[in-house]
Amino acid sequence: MKEIGSKIWAPQLKQMKQRGEKIVMLTAYDALMARLLDEAGVDVLLVGDSLGMVLLGYDTTLPVTMDAMVYHTAAVSRGTSRALVVADMPFLSYQTGADDAVRNAGRFLQQGGAGAVKIEGPAFETVRRLVDTGIPVMGHLGLLPQSVNQLGGFRKQAKCEDEAMQLIEDAKQLEQAGAFSMVLESIPDELGRMVSEAIGVPTIGIGAGPDCDGQVLVAHDALGLTPDPAPSFVKRYAHLGEEIVKAAQAYAEDVRKGQFPQR
Ligand code: KIV
Repeated sequence: MKEIGSKIWAPQLKQMKQRGEKIVMLTAYDALMARLLDEAGVDVLLVGDSLGMVLLGYDTTLPVTMDAMVYHTAAVSRGTSRALVVADMPFLSYQTGADDAVRNAGRFLQQGGAGAVKIEGPAFETVRRLVDTGIPVMGHLGLLPQSVNQLGGFRKQAKCEDEAMQLIEDAKQLEQAGAFSMVLESIPDELGRMVSEAIGVPTIGIGAGPDCDGQVLVAHDALGLTPDPAPSFVKRYAHLGEEIVKAAQAYAEDVRKGQFPQR
């Protein structure tokens, strides 16, 4: 079993890639889940804007606001001792210009206690500005959920050669702009491998095959808390949703029969 050491900082992820150590990332949206996943030795906790869909009942991530993200990031940071906490920049928090991006990303470090932020898409200039300001940036290429309206749904990306070549080029430019790692979402396995070999910073895949330098899943998917069907790349490591329903039914039965609390 891997020995769990001291706090992880953004630059260490590149050293992990160099040592051939796979990076383990899961989402976390609150202090309780963060504490459990941190205790399990997860390396990176992503406060994903997926919380809009997973926790808040929205169909997309677009309605998620900066205030909500800062609130959840601060909660995750309070529950974390070792893992790197990465806060997802929500829709319209960086697309409106590099100044807005610096101000908003700064809030994640200042008020949320995050160690880094994540940005979707080939926003090279913005990444450069953030890195110059001292804010570590994780990139995100492939399926970009904040562009779901333009993409026409949550579907696999870069399936043709032109798009695959463009994605490799974008990954190289993100690295040059200073990104310390990048998520690759829903792309062919082979492309996940090619990008991982083409750049020096680690790739963290979700539906991008086994050759990425690390893997990320939405924790609620991996733990079986979200309803079926899950995306095809998800592996359910537990079925906690079913356990919760069973436990609540047992409680309801006890209360209705007058068996809880006992005299
Ligand atoms: O918001 C999120 O949870 C993400 C992951 C799916 C990578 O961006």
